[in-house]
Amino acid sequence: MMPLAQMAEAVLRTADGREKTALSRRYAAGWQAARDRGETPEIGRADPPLHPARPAKPELLSPRDVPRRRPGTPEGRIALLHAVAHIELNAVDLHWDIIARFAHVKMPMGFYDDWVKAADEESKHFNLMCDCLEALDSHYGALPAHAGMWRAAEDTVDDFMGRLAVVPMVLEARGLDVTPGMIEVFRKAKAADAVAALETIYAEEVGHVAYGSKWFHFLCGRHEEDPKERFHALVRTYFHGALKPPFNEEKRAEAGIPPDFYWPLAEGV
Ligand SMILES: [Fe+2]
Ligand SMILES: [Fe+2]
Repeated sequence: MMPLAQMAEAVLRTADGREKTALSRRYAAGWQAARDRGETPEIGRADPPLHPARPAKPELLSPRDVPRRRPGTPEGRIALLHAVAHIELNAVDLHWDIIARFAHVKMPMGFYDDWVKAADEESKHFNLMCDCLEALDSHYGALPAHAGMWRAAEDTVDDFMGRLAVVPMVLEARGLDVTPGMIEVFRKAKAADAVAALETIYAEEVGHVAYGSKWFHFLCGRHEEDPKERFHALVRTYFHGALKPPFNEEKRAEAGIPPDFYWPLAEGV
């Protein structure tokens, strides 16, 4: 089996969305099978690109130039699914990038198990969103998407703890806040497939935030740092702007993020 960091790099260097997620899922299955056999596969080293390969479409626009559509319309719902597909494709790359980028930091095998599992789930999420779009005669790439989603990765390119603070513990945690509202939009439209897909995403994202919190706390312990203070300092360094309430306090708690981590960083505090 190829060392894990090289698998990660190969996923990052695959441009087409469906091809990227197919490779990601194949590597994740190989990793899981090896771990089930009791093996300790090699992590190795890689040379991940600063920006992952991406398809020619969607066109990437600055957030203020992405047209807003009302969620009460079929076009609005397609736009919402398209936006989630884009987030999921970024999430696939973000999960493999952390493995490749920080392969030199010695971590317990459990860290890689968690990240590979999350990368596999992100790949599934992208595929689910593509399936929903295709069922509505659209596809990923049919609409413009937000540029700048990779910014968090660039900003934390040499700060492992910063990456954990900003990506799983801020960005993915934000997903927990907004997904119930999205599910409601599709429930009202009686779009059962989209509801089921978003519910899968919602349930699995709690796990991703929990992995972030677990390994962030692990590294704080390794460096004898206070997790809350460190988290606040890193988010203020790397995250642009304040966190937006309302927060999903219940799911955040389930994922191991207590209120005193995020409220002091919230808008208007
Ligand atoms: Fe996801
Ligand atoms: Fe996720």
